[in-house]
Amino acid sequence: MGPDDFRELVDLVEARSTNLSSACHGPEHWKCVAFVGVGIAQECGHDTLVPLLFGLFHDAMRMNDHFDPGHGPRAGELVLELAGTGGLSLAEPALADLFEACKVHTRADPTERLPLGICLDADRVNLWRVSIRPQPRYLSTRQNWTTDWIELARPLHGTIDSWDEVYEAYAAASRPLHPEGDK
Ligand SMILES: [Fe+2]
Ligand SMILES: [Fe+2]
Repeated sequence: MGPDDFRELVDLVEARSTNLSSACHGPEHWKCVAFVGVGIAQECGHDTLVPLLFGLFHDAMRMNDHFDPGHGPRAGELVLELAGTGGLSLAEPALADLFEACKVHTRADPTERLPLGICLDADRVNLWRVSIRPQPRYLSTRQNWTTDWIELARPLHGTIDSWDEVYEAYAAASRPLHPEGDK
């Protein structure tokens, strides 16, 4: 996904979001989840696009900052809606993976299935912002990490200035390590 497509998608999701003004579940959080998800995906040797998009979508449809068990399924519905109208261009199986991760993220157990486990972990290591210490037993991919994402996420909330910064991390993670001609 190119930078212009991603920027347009951010605008579409923000236009549909029900909790843009939320301090703990709004865009400041989405950026952190996307950023960490891209990093974990890279360390797992997995494609980074679904974790990037999970960060953007997963909490976009919350109705409040408290008890809202339907917000995951509604985020999944938004994924399908924007895919249906052309705002989100994502091939299978990535589309199904993104839909499922959004739908189940509030209640899913740790899993070896990727990218689901990456998405869950990216959200869970960002619990510091609501004064919860992330618990390793609820994480899925820790055995693949070379970065301590729990500690990296600790001061992260509120420090990512723009989606451009997140996209740059995604673009850097997607670049081949040895570009053609660079032996
Ligand atoms: Fe959520
Ligand atoms: Fe979240």
